Amino acid sequence: MRLRARIATLLGTSVLVLAAGAVPVAAQAGPPVEGSTGGGDPYFPAAGNGGYDVAHYDLDLSYTPQTRALTAHADITATATAGLRSFSLDLRALEVTSVTVDGTPAAHTHGSGELVVTPAEPLESGAEFVVGVDYGGTTGRPEDATGALYGWVSFDDGAFVANEPEGASTWFPVNDTPVDKATYSFEIDVPEGTAAIANGLPGEPTTAEGRTTYTWEADDPQASYLATASTGDYLLTEDTGPGGLPIVNAVDADLDQAAAAAVLATQPAMIEYFESVFGPYPFGSYGAIVDDDEEPGYALETQTRPIYSGVPTESTVAHELAHQWFGNKVTPALWEDIWLNEGFATYAEWLWAQNTGGPTPQQQFDEAFAVPADDPFWTVPPADPGAPNLFDAAVYNRGAMALQALRVTIGDDAFAQVLRQWADRDELTPVRTDDLRELAEEISGQDLEALFQAWLRTPAKPAAPTPA
Ligand code: ARG
Ligand code: ZN
Repeated sequence: MRLRARIATLLGTSVLVLAAGAVPVAAQAGPPVEGSTGGGDPYFPAAGNGGYDVAHYDLDLSYTPQTRALTAHADITATATAGLRSFSLDLRALEVTSVTVDGTPAAHTHGSGELVVTPAEPLESGAEFVVGVDYGGTTGRPEDATGALYGWVSFDDGAFVANEPEGASTWFPVNDTPVDKATYSFEIDVPEGTAAIANGLPGEPTTAEGRTTYTWEADDPQASYLATASTGDYLLTEDTGPGGLPIVNAVDADLDQAAAAAVLATQPAMIEYFESVFGPYPFGSYGAIVDDDEEPGYALETQTRPIYSGVPTESTVAHELAHQWFGNKVTPALWEDIWLNEGFATYAEWLWAQNTGGPTPQQQFDEAFAVPADDPFWTVPPADPGAPNLFDAAVYNRGAMALQALRVTIGDDAFAQVLRQWADRDELTPVRTDDLRELAEEISGQDLEALFQAWLRTPAKPAAPTPA
């Protein structure tokens, strides 16, 4: 779901209305092409695809943790953005048994992470179509380019599912790029006694013949790296946020329930506080998935329902909540702009700390600024850190420092407006670092090129900021 595609659809409609009887729009698009197998991100060239735009993923997943057996069906509703002879979906490791396009069997090949589909008839530019994929296999423990576990991570009691940056293709056929947001429906069946938690809001689970089926609807368009369908021995609790926002928490039964409940109980007040600083919470539900992995300390801002590998600290809960505005709603077009996610989420931790009687952002800045100039910390520029440094400490901490440097430079009032207006951007129009600079320049009336260059793009320690 892309704004560009929406505009194209609107234009297409008006052209047809205005020029009824003239050459149909699709015929102007030229002969059908093979959709690209890459999405154009320099860090992850194989992730994402070209030639279509997904509106909705309908995922039926049948999973048995003990055997790691996954049997699945995906119905993907998309619109062709070019005439297509064939197109590609990202899907790794699992086996595809059949593919249909609009219910008609389609030819397909599946290798090196790409499922290439050739429909019986080429798709016309602008046509909406549904791809049905039957697939499955034995799940494993996928690793990202740095060797960290991600994607569908199998454990004996369930799977911990966290896809950032391009791990969604470890469990469903996907246009795995953050610029193609879509809504999701999940139907997940698991052995009775296991729970399945996804994004959005749950339906009533049903149990038959020793298996329980869980349904979840995620109506807020989301990037594929933010999808989850985690399974485990979870206990579910409900809470309510500001304005009646439904909160659903899932906590692994083996964890200290009181400790988990205590930190999750801060969520409603945190949402209220961040709404007062950033503007309205952007989605229709919230909550947490708290697992009991062997390696606690991992967290991901899966949309509406962050996932934690152990009972999180309050600061981490604040971080993942802030990502709902910064990253999930306002989403970078390219992975090199990852600091727009992590710098803002880290800055939000600083704001929450101050709000609860801790140090001020300036004190946090000063502490981090004490890192000596010859420390390797300063060698990683937060904007364009390089794919292996996507989650480097500099992306988080120097990113947050860059925001404090901006605040010092333009003043508290202008900075407060920048935070609000940045959070208010359209969720289907991906952003770049320069969009933030332009917004801050417009609000402050200052030229901020040098500041952004020094703090975000230079592999050296910047000078301390000075008020203009
Ligand atoms: N975006 C996540 C967070 O900071 C971090 C994901 C880290 N991933 C990794 N492979 N280290 O909330
Ligand atoms: Zn983060």
